[in-house]
Amino acid sequence: MSELEVKKVIALMSGTSCDSIDAGLCEVYPDMSVKLIRGINFPYPEHVRAKIFQIFRGEASVKDICQMNFVIGKCFADACKILIEEYGKPDLISSHGQTVYHYPYDEKIDDISMKSTLQIGESSVIAQETGCMVVSNFREADIAQGGQGAPLVCFADEKWWGKGISRQCHSEFDSVNVSAPHPASLSNGARECNRNYAIQNIGGISNVTVVSKDFDTFGFDTGLGNIMIDYCAQKYFSKPYDKDGDIASEGVICESWLECLLQDEYYFVEPPKSTGREYFNPQYIENSLKYAPKDPKDIIATATALTAKTIADAYERFIYPNVGIHEAVICGGGAYNKTLMKFLRKFLPSYIELKTCEDYGISNNFKEVMAFALLGYCTYYGIPNNLPCCTGAKKRVVMGKITY
Ligand SMILES: Nc1ncnc2c1ncn2[C@@H]1O[C@H](COP(=O)(O)OP(=O)(O)O)[C@@H](O)[C@H]1O
Ligand SMILES: [Mg+2]
Repeated sequence: MSELEVKKVIALMSGTSCDSIDAGLCEVYPDMSVKLIRGINFPYPEHVRAKIFQIFRGEASVKDICQMNFVIGKCFADACKILIEEYGKPDLISSHGQTVYHYPYDEKIDDISMKSTLQIGESSVIAQETGCMVVSNFREADIAQGGQGAPLVCFADEKWWGKGISRQCHSEFDSVNVSAPHPASLSNGARECNRNYAIQNIGGISNVTVVSKDFDTFGFDTGLGNIMIDYCAQKYFSKPYDKDGDIASEGVICESWLECLLQDEYYFVEPPKSTGREYFNPQYIENSLKYAPKDPKDIIATATALTAKTIADAYERFIYPNVGIHEAVICGGGAYNKTLMKFLRKFLPSYIELKTCEDYGISNNFKEVMAFALLGYCTYYGIPNNLPCCTGAKKRVVMGKITY
């Protein structure tokens, strides 16, 4: 194994919200810290985005998916080219891909039972268009080891907020000459060693990583993030999302509807667990809306409260019995929703400090990009980059495939 060096990595992320391709040029350091040099939100061309939603709705043919794999690959390459034009070629590109299906369930076909997931955006197109090495398809290796292939950012959260080198991966990292215990550069040194953190991403779906001084890192998807809020903002106000939570702030939470929505069985499943648009799909939302209050503002207020309350409930059910939390650090687009943040403050215990990634000098928009820069860096060096405590995999593996 070669000695680790600083690498320039362009990371590409497009999550379940499908709001944009987030692309970031990062420097990744041997101590696993990551510095974002420049981040851009590259919008999907209109018809490409519409086609992706067609796939989400289950209205696409195999031909559509085949075609979109290459079309999205081209969009990813175009996003990279903007950064390359300004900064030159990176050492590698790390591409998460666009998830079009995530199915973390063991369903038997003959005697074969495998979980599955599908991220598209052909890496060969990105590599050929840019002339750069590409790391992609991270989730598959974890699934091949019985994991759910999600959530993956926990690995980065542990490096940045945690012990740096955890008990479970200490020896593996020693063997590849990683000596620095913790990168302060990412978090501008604000992190305190004796605190327990819930690093809470609120994208389309919400996921948490628990990083503590006295418990191995663990994490899981808490459930809905912005998917239902976005859907209702589109349906009732013809807006792609509820900017700053303004609409929700004018509505009233319908307690009886909220109580009913909180009964969904996903929220009661023990971790490890992950979810996606396949579960919280338009049909789920439309069914839920049958019992909704009349005023669309109240609907959005209640959908916003649902995201906040399911996060708070998940902490109560699955985190506090194991570990106390001093601080919740919110990231992802949801951190910009002021009403959602207000509801989180209301539902979380008052002793928990509520911050966003931006309090640590990291853009809420680009934290996941930075995490994928780190995951790709590890793939490049053959460093195991999954956390079985979070995904349920049988062992640590090197996730990601390399395309030249
Ligand atoms: N200013 C804002 N106010 C309210 N919500 C926002 C704002 N900016 C982004 N969002 C929400 O965040 C979502 C995108 O979050 P993101 O972290 O990119 O999710 P994903 O990883 O699923 O793409 C948007 O769809 C929107 O719902
Ligand atoms: Mg996004």
